[in-house]
Amino acid sequence: MTPPTASSLLAPSVAQTLDRLHRRARTDLFRIALVAPLVVPDFFGLRKVDDTRLSHRMRSVYVPVSRSQGQMLYLIARSIDARRIVEFGTSFGISTLYLASAVKDNGGGVVVGSELEPSKHAKALEHLREAELDAFTDVRLGDALKTLADVEAPVDMVLLDGWKDTYLPVLKVLQPKLRPRAVVLADNIFTFKRALRPYVNYVQSGTNGFVSSTLDIADGFELSVFTG
Ligand SMILES: C[S@@+](CC[C@H](N)C(=O)[O-])C[C@H]1O[C@@H](n2cnc3c(N)ncnc32)[C@H](O)[C@@H]1O
Repeated sequence: MTPPTASSLLAPSVAQTLDRLHRRARTDLFRIALVAPLVVPDFFGLRKVDDTRLSHRMRSVYVPVSRSQGQMLYLIARSIDARRIVEFGTSFGISTLYLASAVKDNGGGVVVGSELEPSKHAKALEHLREAELDAFTDVRLGDALKTLADVEAPVDMVLLDGWKDTYLPVLKVLQPKLRPRAVVLADNIFTFKRALRPYVNYVQSGTNGFVSSTLDIADGFELSVFTG
């Protein structure tokens, strides 16, 4: 009898999809350079633009988690037996592929994703189908503050990776659904230090139901555990 594959990340459909998408994301710098005059002031909060417009302008840019972050997401989800994971900011679905692999390997469940830009949402669904992980995902089109409001409890794990001003509002929407010891990860803490200060202060204060630390991984990965 063939032993079961230890990790869905090794399945050809997943590995090939991830390889292709990570390779494409390597040309992000070029694509960001093309839209830089339009997006840089908005991206860094120097000028306030509507999130939908910013997402539209960034519609060809992947800005995904790195491979190491993805592996870490997979391993954390496996270690806490995550069955319901919520993701703020799906983009083309790279992080979703790591999370959905873990949910599948845990025995089943769902990754509830969210994406504001319709063309990226459609592509993410296509990539999840190609990787044969679509049965473990529910990626919702629209503003996460609305689309994630009716996520069922208990939520085992959260990834925050959308536009930065919205991390804290999204966390507050999800907090009542978190199960004790749920894990919340938030990306780009160093790059968006100023915009994410309220978020980091909230999770690190020790008075809001979290223990938390910024990990020096990629450009800063905040790892928080919900203590209830
Ligand atoms: C950094 S990218 C996400 C990358 C993705 N997590 C990955 O690793 O492949 C951020 C995404 O969040 C989306 N986004 C930003 N604000 C949003 C909102 N309020 N609701 C839903 N999606 C949002 C953007 O359109 C963009 O595609």
